[in-house]
Amino acid sequence: MRKNIVAGNWKMNLDYEKGLSLFSEIVNMVKDEVVGNQEVIVCSPAIHLYSIGKLASPVANVSVGAQNIHQAESGAYTGEISATQVKSTGADYVILGHSERRAYFGETDALLAEKTDAALKHGLSPIFCIGETKEEREGGNFFEVIKTQLEGGVFHLSATEFEKVVLAYEPVWAIGTGLTASPEQAQEVHAFIRETVAAKYGAEIADNTTILYGGSANPGNAKDLFLQKDIDGGLIGGASLKSRDFLDIVKVFN
Ligand code: G3P
Repeated sequence: MRKNIVAGNWKMNLDYEKGLSLFSEIVNMVKDEVVGNQEVIVCSPAIHLYSIGKLASPVANVSVGAQNIHQAESGAYTGEISATQVKSTGADYVILGHSERRAYFGETDALLAEKTDAALKHGLSPIFCIGETKEEREGGNFFEVIKTQLEGGVFHLSATEFEKVVLAYEPVWAIGTGLTASPEQAQEVHAFIRETVAAKYGAEIADNTTILYGGSANPGNAKDLFLQKDIDGGLIGGASLKSRDFLDIVKVFN
């Protein structure tokens, strides 16, 4: 079912105490704001997952996610974390395909397909990120780039599996730059993504797919973005580290 989701991506920020304190603030602020088909997700570094998962569990429509998993079940992969380990903390989501992992850690579409399979096998819903670089945007072939990322990362899934996937369009040139995509630019790509999903899985699944926007979203631009027909919420980086800003973005749907 298509949900309105505001997901925070804390990236590599906040020590244990600060993370627990921020999440406690967020839960207390949003618990009465998130109703119906809305959901708030916080995707934290692994050190926080268990503690914030315990705080989230009694609160409806507030969930926790990881920012990565290894594709293997378990084993000699020093420093990695598996889907089962993430699930055991109480988390329900995992961000996969973030442009920072693609760029800095060389994550390919094929590897991300394996990670997607591991996540789904162990009850984690992928928040699967796609998006073009500045060069690809300027080159005009960004639709092809996005279609290739979908085909390589998630279009191997069955319809039933795909229904558990949340998509996030994150133009790389908008991440952390303050250069947010305009509502029209974002809507154009979101509509293309939904059409591409429809061509693969049919109109009903496409219509029920949640497609988030990420890239310098903040309280000042969230409303114009989220009011777009095919934008179902946001994947928020910097603004998710400030409880007031994150709450203001959540309240856009109220
Ligand atoms: O995953 C969301 C993130 O990439 C967006 O970051 O700081 O531009 O909101 P930011």
